[in-house]
Amino acid sequence: MDEPLTPPAHNVLVVHPHISITPEEREAVLRSVEYNVFAFPAALVSCDFLSDSGTSAVTDVQWAAMVRGDESYGRNSGYYCLLDAFRDVFERGDKQEYLFRDVLAGTTDSSFYLNKFLKPRSGGFVNGGRMQLIRPNFFIVPQGRCAEFLLFSTLANILEANRSALAWPPVIISNGFFDTTNANASVAGFELHTFLQPGLTELFPIEKVGVENPFRGNLDVAAASAFLSNPENAKRTALILLTITNNWAAGQPVSMANIKATAALACQHGIPLFFDACRFAENAAFVQVFEPGYSHMPIPQIVVDMFAHADGFTISLKKDGLANMGGALCFRDEGVFASRFTADIGIHLKERQIICYGNDSYGGMSGRDLMAAAAGLYQVTQEAYLRNRIRQVQGFAQRLVEKGVPVLLPPGGSAVFLDMDVFFADCGRSYDEFASVGFTLELLRDYGIRSVEAGPFGWEWDKKTSAKERDLIPNLVRLAVPRNVMTDVHFEYTAAAISQLYRRRHTIPGARITRGAELRIRHFQSGLEPVPVQTFLGKAQDDITRLSSALGLDQAAQKILAESLALSMKSWGQVPIHHQSTCSWLSDCSYNRSPIEYSVAIEQNTGKSQLRFMIEAQAAGNSIEAYQRSALDLTKAIEAKYLNVTLDRFNDVSDLFFPPETAQGPLAAWHSLVMDTSTPKWKIYLNPRTSGLANASGVVREALFRLGMPDAYGLLEAVLSSDPNSESSFIYFSLDLHPRPQDRIKVYLEHHNSSATSLAGLIGPCLSGTASETEIHRFFSTLAGGSDGPYRAKSLVTCFTFTRPDGEGTALETEVTVHFPIGKYAPTAAEARRRLEDYLATTTPADSREAVLMMFSKCVDALRHHETAAGAEFYQWVGLKLTKSREPVITFYFGPDMFGGAVRRG
Ligand SMILES: Cc1ncc(COP(=O)(O)O)c(C=O)c1O
Repeated sequence: MDEPLTPPAHNVLVVHPHISITPEEREAVLRSVEYNVFAFPAALVSCDFLSDSGTSAVTDVQWAAMVRGDESYGRNSGYYCLLDAFRDVFERGDKQEYLFRDVLAGTTDSSFYLNKFLKPRSGGFVNGGRMQLIRPNFFIVPQGRCAEFLLFSTLANILEANRSALAWPPVIISNGFFDTTNANASVAGFELHTFLQPGLTELFPIEKVGVENPFRGNLDVAAASAFLSNPENAKRTALILLTITNNWAAGQPVSMANIKATAALACQHGIPLFFDACRFAENAAFVQVFEPGYSHMPIPQIVVDMFAHADGFTISLKKDGLANMGGALCFRDEGVFASRFTADIGIHLKERQIICYGNDSYGGMSGRDLMAAAAGLYQVTQEAYLRNRIRQVQGFAQRLVEKGVPVLLPPGGSAVFLDMDVFFADCGRSYDEFASVGFTLELLRDYGIRSVEAGPFGWEWDKKTSAKERDLIPNLVRLAVPRNVMTDVHFEYTAAAISQLYRRRHTIPGARITRGAELRIRHFQSGLEPVPVQTFLGKAQDDITRLSSALGLDQAAQKILAESLALSMKSWGQVPIHHQSTCSWLSDCSYNRSPIEYSVAIEQNTGKSQLRFMIEAQAAGNSIEAYQRSALDLTKAIEAKYLNVTLDRFNDVSDLFFPPETAQGPLAAWHSLVMDTSTPKWKIYLNPRTSGLANASGVVREALFRLGMPDAYGLLEAVLSSDPNSESSFIYFSLDLHPRPQDRIKVYLEHHNSSATSLAGLIGPCLSGTASETEIHRFFSTLAGGSDGPYRAKSLVTCFTFTRPDGEGTALETEVTVHFPIGKYAPTAAEARRRLEDYLATTTPADSREAVLMMFSKCVDALRHHETAAGAEFYQWVGLKLTKSREPVITFYFGPDMFGGAVRRG
């Protein structure tokens, strides 16, 4: 059988055009309103999901009623219409009298007033005629929270007067207190206990949305009953308050069965049952559609059945009154409420109503607003309207789910709630970051869509002291759907926008409270500020951009660098840094454990510079195998993207460096990009110790042999064997990934405990004799501040670079680079610069020297934000390349402090 279709319930006859505005303009506005979404001008919003309260499009019947409104001070006709609308809707069900129609049509006369509006009535929620004067039980107020204030403050006064006879403090039990309800009751001195049926955020299959509903707004009757089974608690409990639908619990409905069970519990303990009835009609629609036994019962009858169990209720007519303002408080005449407190309670309430809001016939509302609310109550209970309303919210949720956005299912009646725990599940966000607030700010700035956080910020997670209180706080964002305002276009646009944000969820900022953290219901009033997320990629791109600017690289080069960083960090760059969720492996790539290192190579005599980065592809988990996979994946990705990359030589030796089972650390491989003029060049660093330190020489020999450079191994062997203390060993093996013949093979040696003298003696002979030996000695000792060593804080490193520029079978060309870990030996960057100056003084002409030093200072300034109180050495190495034929090249290496100094090598 075909699925039953829901025809449209109305036409749109009035249009409210939007102002066009850019994200940049919205950012400026956001800044000016302290990033509080409540303070953002509605005129600049395209889709306003801030609230469904008072935001309804008024129907033409309501407009007609407003025109018939009268603004007399005493007993305007709207007052009578509203009172009788309450009787019709909440008590008469399908026997409505609809007196309002006569006022609208102008067919009333004095006998109508005498016999209908002024007729004495009692025993229900709305006494009539003189009974409302003698025993007032219906109170008009401007909106829902005023009804709450009236109720709780008056009750508290009465209870306070009898304090000696009562256990203290008085308690209210609820399935969920809306924020103003919570605040009003707390301020009045009540202790609040929320017993929500468990399972609010449990998974619910999308196919069952619209088919089944678990009524997750229900009171946990068993838990409430257990609480009340303690006679002390029962004595203290002044009210049970059922919020229908349960706005605090994602707008979920409450079943008729739950209402009945709650009423029975209340009755058993002689406690009045009140409703927070803001969305009574939507709740009735859920009962009709989803609760067995109600599908054939008309909505008006369901409403009456629901309210038959209540002793009183507060209502904001801004929701299911379809009105832009209004509220009411009423209680059953001569019922449990009056007998539990005082028969005079209505008189007390009325006195306070008059003091705070005005005469009982308007309670702070204008005559035309009373008429609009009266008309709205009839309209909101029409089945066609409700079906469309529920379907619209449901359809919105389904669109989001189709786009992969985590939504609390099934959706409630008035809003869609995003499940932000799931949304940010793989982002490692903590509650005190208020990332869900950050989400609402991004959504508003970038797309003009206003939503509100209903989570750790709004529910004051940071102020709660017990785990139990914290556990009760959901992490949601609410998109409340105004009644009769939006079309499918709004929902389609919003679902697409949220799905875009979901895809870049790792970059969504958190928020910091800048003002008013301590205020009650602070989300309406406090000031905020977005706190950008530092991701590995974001931070690295920021560093590279700073360095590029310092070196004067053009936009094209900067773009290439940023893109190659993004490629290198593809699967892990979006992770926020401080959570280190991918970094259980602490990288050796830089010596403060960051998985990236930057370097700037400068020709000593010309000042010509080259920017590079070296990166370790991170992997989830802490195994060398996982790091090997990540390294191989990145190698392939680089080959796929860069046309000048060839893996020929890498493939010739990769089995040596990626042994299948027995690999050892401390690295699988690193990759490095050299920004050489406008052509990026990649190289890879491999680990000769991967099969153990003892096998490193064998691995290097075999690799050089396979790559046609056995003579290079001969040279290295000679160096190693001439180390008197045998404290030199192979540490890295690097290959240029561009084609022959300019490609280089670089082999790195680490020298434990060596001194300037011993290392100069070891390396010098590989160059052109004693001049170079002197040079190397002076380089180390000057940078070490005049000390010859031995350098024990961190070992010196040398690198042998081999090429055959004239092709196979021709002479081997060798260059040697010596590396000094200056960060471990010079306490400040300024001191490092001073030592550099000393070293360059004798080797470099004054103007070139100045250029090199200036470059060092510029790089230090660009990265100075990595300097921590602990002095994490972001300036790390100085390398000096010595060749027989070319200019010496000096290289500065920088390791960003990605972990705020928190992770340091011992
Ligand atoms: C469940 C509930 N109770 C009370 C209120 C307060 O009503 P008002 O905004 O009219 O003061 C609201 C408003 O959203 C609500 O959702």
